[in-house]
Order: sequence, then C-alpha cells, then structure tokens
Amino acid sequence: MKAACGRIAPQVTPRHSSEHRPSTAQGAALERFEKISRNSGVKRDVHDERWYETAFGRDYLTLYAHRSSAEARAQVVRILEWGFHGQLLDLGCGAGRHLAALEARGVFGVGVDLSRELLAAAPREVRPRLVRADLRRLPFRDASFDGALSLFSSFGYFDDAGDRRALHEAARVLRPAGQLLLDLADPGAVRAGLVPRSERQAGDLALVEERHLADGGRLVVKQVTVIERSGVRRSWQERLRLYEPQELLSMAALCGLSVRARHTTWGASGGSVAAPRQIWVLERES
Ligand SMILES: C[S@@+](CC[C@H](N)C(=O)[O-])C[C@H]1O[C@@H](n2cnc3c(N)ncnc32)[C@H](O)[C@@H]1O
Repeated sequence: MKAACGRIAPQVTPRHSSEHRPSTAQGAALERFEKISRNSGVKRDVHDERWYETAFGRDYLTLYAHRSSAEARAQVVRILEWGFHGQLLDLGCGAGRHLAALEARGVFGVGVDLSRELLAAAPREVRPRLVRADLRRLPFRDASFDGALSLFSSFGYFDDAGDRRALHEAARVLRPAGQLLLDLADPGAVRAGLVPRSERQAGDLALVEERHLADGGRLVVKQVTVIERSGVRRSWQERLRLYEPQELLSMAALCGLSVRARHTTWGASGGSVAAPRQIWVLERES
C-alpha cells in the first residue's frame, strides 16, 4: 500500500501540465470516465480485501517509474549504514530493485513477493533468489536471516490480524538480534497532503487517481484508473493502513521486536520525493 510506499504518497501539487496532456483518444476516454464517475459514482468504499492481488500488475512499473533503481541504490547505502548485513530478506521485493542494488555492493539478498508480473521483471542476476509467496506465510525456516527489509510501504495491506501475521512472520525468520527495517508512510503527512483527485500521464498511459480516507482516517484508499491510447481502460484499488508509531510498536513488541532506531526520512538522495517517512529499525529479541 506505499506515502503509500509513499505508494499512496501525499501529492501536494497535482501534475497536469500541457506536456502531460492526454492524447485525443485518451482525452475522450478520460471524459467518458469522468462522466461515469459523476453520474453513477465510482464505488469508493467497496471493501476488496484482496486488492493487492491485482494492484501490482503490469502497469505498476510505469505508474511508479520514479521509484527507480537510482533511488534504491541510494537507500541501500543508508540500509548498510544502519547496520544491515549478512543474509537479508526483501519482503515485498517487487521487481527486485533493492536486491540488485544490494548485490552491486556484495550483499546477496533473497526476495519474496506475490506478483508474478513484478518478479518476472526483476533483473536477471537476482532472479535465482526470488520466491513467490504471501507475506503472511513465508516459506522459510525460523531464524534464517540476519536482516529483513520492508521497503516503500510494503506493510499495512491486510486487516489487523493479517498485518500482525505478516509482522510475526518477518520476526520469525530473523535470527536473534537480527534487524527488520520497516519503511512506512508518515500518517500525519499522508492525511495532511491527501489530494482527492489528480490526473497525470505515465508513459503511454493517462492516469486518474482518486484518494480518500476510510476507517476513521486509519486507511488510505486510492482508486486508480489507467487509460491506454486506444481508449482501453483498467481500474483497481490500493489500500494502505496508516500506523501510528505507538500501535506499530505495540504490535512489534508482541512479535518479539524492539526498537533500535527510528528515522524520519531517507535523506536527500534516498527518496525521489522529500516526503517524511516512518522508518523503523527493529531488533529481534534474543
Ligand atoms: C509498493 S510495492 C514495493 C515494491 C518494492 N519493495 C519496491 O520498493 O520497489 C509493494 C510490493 O508488495 C507486494 N505484495 C503485495 N501484497 C503481497 C502479499 N500478500 N504477499 C507478498 N507480496 C505482496 C507487491 O506485489 C509489491 O511488489
């Protein structure tokens, strides 16, 4: 989810300049979409618990192109400075950009993700170390890793029990004193910067993003609609649970994780947007 990875990032300035103007076919499709949206209403509160099975498909890399290899390389510098070493697990590794950056520095991590499309898009060198699995059921023995990474809001996708389960799984596969990095959205910044609707061009796609808060402000819901030049349209939802520091730390304690450090940003070179983040370094109790 994700601001949301920064995924549902607070977008302070909606981008819709002339250089990003949709093509005529896209423009017409966009207008049709707006009409449908206005008249019948996009179903904004449909609760689709398994949204993550469709949201990370073929369009993801185009839409989040700014979440780049260069950004991953800069973040990996920080990750290593923060003491991560040895055998690492990237939880929700996507197309493996952090794994490739780690490998370039001589650290050979394993990646786990559910998305076939993203795993297939990973660089050749990291593919042998990718595993397709659900974050709530990791196919690894207890205490297999020195460290685990959950980057770009890859935590907060399930209901409360599911998120607890995912955190418990992350702790279970860590060796005693192993570290977990959780890179989460900053709830206050997301709420304050939430733009209800924006349009932009991403590669060949015209993109409409509609955002709202649900569950008393604890959940950010983003309805994404992409329109191809041909007018073909796809739509899906992204949902990200916003964790307040205290709730997260209570959950972590139940999983045997204590705080080693907290960072509030990746620093100037580590993030393509200067959004405040909630970056936790947690340590598995011995
Ligand atoms: C926002 S992306 C971040 C990807 C990657 N960490 C990065 O920074 O590029 C979240 C990732 O979590 C994965 N994911 C979502 N739900 C999952 C699940 N239930 N089990 C495993 N991976 C999941 C998605 O497929 C996606 O690759």
